[in-house]
Amino acid sequence: MNWSRRHLLSIEELSKEEIEHILENSFSFKEVLLRPIKKVPALRGKTVVNLFFEPSTRTLISFSLAEKHLSADSVNVSTSSSSVKKGETLLDTAKNIESMKTDMVVIRHSSAGAAKFLAERLNSNVINAGDGTHEHPTQALLDFMTIREHYKDFKNLKVLILGDILHSRVARSLMWGFMKYKTKVTLCAPPTLLPLYLNDFNVEVEYDIDKAIKDKDVIYILRMQLERQEKGLFPSLREYIKDFSMTYERYQTVKDRSIIMHPGPINRGVELDGTVADSGKSVILEQVTNGVAVRMAILYLLNGGKNE
Ligand code: CP
Repeated sequence: MNWSRRHLLSIEELSKEEIEHILENSFSFKEVLLRPIKKVPALRGKTVVNLFFEPSTRTLISFSLAEKHLSADSVNVSTSSSSVKKGETLLDTAKNIESMKTDMVVIRHSSAGAAKFLAERLNSNVINAGDGTHEHPTQALLDFMTIREHYKDFKNLKVLILGDILHSRVARSLMWGFMKYKTKVTLCAPPTLLPLYLNDFNVEVEYDIDKAIKDKDVIYILRMQLERQEKGLFPSLREYIKDFSMTYERYQTVKDRSIIMHPGPINRGVELDGTVADSGKSVILEQVTNGVAVRMAILYLLNGGKNE
C-alpha cells in the first residue's frame, strides 16, 4: 500500500490495511533489532524531539532507541527540564523547538488531543506517545504485533481487557483496533471503572473475573491508575484485589494457550500477582521488545518510507 499519513495520532483514524502495513514493517525492523549491529540509515540527517510531559520508561526509551537504530539525531525534553515550568505554553515550546530545524515530534501529554493540536500547527511529523485518557496508538500497535506472534488470525480470538478501563488510553486504542478486526472483546472491571463511551464499541462486559478469564486467548491486564483516580471508585484496594486481580489461583484456571499481556508499568500484587507477571504465559517483556520495532516502523513510514 502507499502510505500517505504525516502523523500518527490514534488507532481510531487508521484503517485495518494501515495497521497491517505498520505490522508488516515492524516485523522487518524486528529483524534489524535482532542483528548484532542494530543500525540502518533510514533517518540519517533527521532530528526527532521526544517531548514528554508525563513520566515514561518504556515509551521514551524505546522511541529513543528506535531513533538511534534508524540513525536519526534525537533530543529528549521533559516537563521538569523545559521552560513549561516557567509558564511557557505547549505550542510556544513546540514552535521554539521546531525553529531549531527539527523534523519530527513524539509527544506524551496529560491532555487528550495534545498530539492532534500540535499536528495541526507544526510542520513536523507528530507521533502521539499517549495523550491523557484518549489514546496510546504505538502501545496498541506493539500489542497487536505481539498477539500476531502467537495467533495468526485476530478475527477468531477471544480477548479480555481487565482492570481500570476508565482511565486507560491503552484500552481505548486496543478497542478501536480490535473493532477493525471484528475481534470478540470482553471487558471486566468494577462498574465504576468502566467508561461511558462503551456504546461506540462492540464489546461485552462480564463483572465476574472467574467467568471472564476462563475461555480467553488473550488476557490483557491494565494498571490500576491511582494517580488519575478520584477517591471512592471502589471500596478499598483489598476489595479490588479480591474481585478483579489476576491472582496465581486464578491464573491456574486460564486456558493452556492463553497469553497474559500488560502495557506496563505493572503493580505487582495489585492488578496481577508477581508470579503471573513472571509466568510462562506472560508476554509482557515480548511486548516491550516489539515496542522498539513498531516505533522504528512508524518513524520510517512517517518519514516517507524510504531509506535515506
Ligand atoms: N506502556 C507505557 O506507556 O509505559 P511507560 O509509561 O513506561 O512509557
